[in-house]
Amino acid sequence: MKVWFVGAGPGDPELITVKGFKLLKDADLIIYAGSLVNPQLLSGLTAELVNSSNLSLESIIAKIIESLNAGKKIVRLHSGDPSLYGAILEQIRPLEEAGIEVEVVPGVSSLFAAAAALKTQLTLKGVSESLIITRPVGATLEKDDLTSLSKHGATMAIFLAADKVQEVMASLQMPEETPVALIYHASWPDQKILLGNLKNIADKVEAEGVKHSALILVGGVIDRTGFRRSHLYRER
Ligand SMILES: C[S@@+](CC[C@H](N)C(=O)[O-])C[C@H]1O[C@@H](n2cnc3c(N)ncnc32)[C@H](O)[C@@H]1O
Repeated sequence: MKVWFVGAGPGDPELITVKGFKLLKDADLIIYAGSLVNPQLLSGLTAELVNSSNLSLESIIAKIIESLNAGKKIVRLHSGDPSLYGAILEQIRPLEEAGIEVEVVPGVSSLFAAAAALKTQLTLKGVSESLIITRPVGATLEKDDLTSLSKHGATMAIFLAADKVQEVMASLQMPEETPVALIYHASWPDQKILLGNLKNIADKVEAEGVKHSALILVGGVIDRTGFRRSHLYRER
């Protein structure tokens, strides 16, 4: 009685782990996290495929338990890495309470696919040694921490914010010329990179009509300049 929670990676079907792909090939049932899982990754598999985007938590749990009782091998497939905005614990908790064992297989987060798309580092000597991973919360931004987090001068990765770029940028207390990138569908064939700064990125995003499936990166690392050499490759 075991369920595997697997990170599908950011979109490119080759960016799932070998372990994750083996589990997909072996599975009888895959419950996958909607449109952020590339259909190409699922094509050619023999498992029954269930899109979880229209299912309640209760019906996902019921489907898993019913299928396990029928002797099926089950994968719960999440986009990117399941530990980032994956809402896996609320699924794991009732499964464990029902005596079911759970294993988690990490994945390549869209955060790392976005950095790869920009051919940059998220931490860069002399520019930013720290990374803040966050998201705007709720219908208004009143209750989230974006303003206070922005004061650290760290690289910021902002998930789930493509439809709120204007408000998000207004809430950041950083110089207006701070570089900002919005990466839509990182690693997918239709990947799009929009580059700008705190002042003008919202207009660019609006002009492109991007409203979902995009990550916002903020900070000097986007410019790929002003960094110092690390000590790793010094002459010996
Ligand atoms: C529910 S969260 C899941 C994040 C996922 N666990 C991860 O590690 O990438 C969904 C958000 O992740 C971001 N996202 C997921 N896949 C993406 C991709 N390929 N390119 C850009 N952003 C992506 C977007 O901000 C999207 O709104």
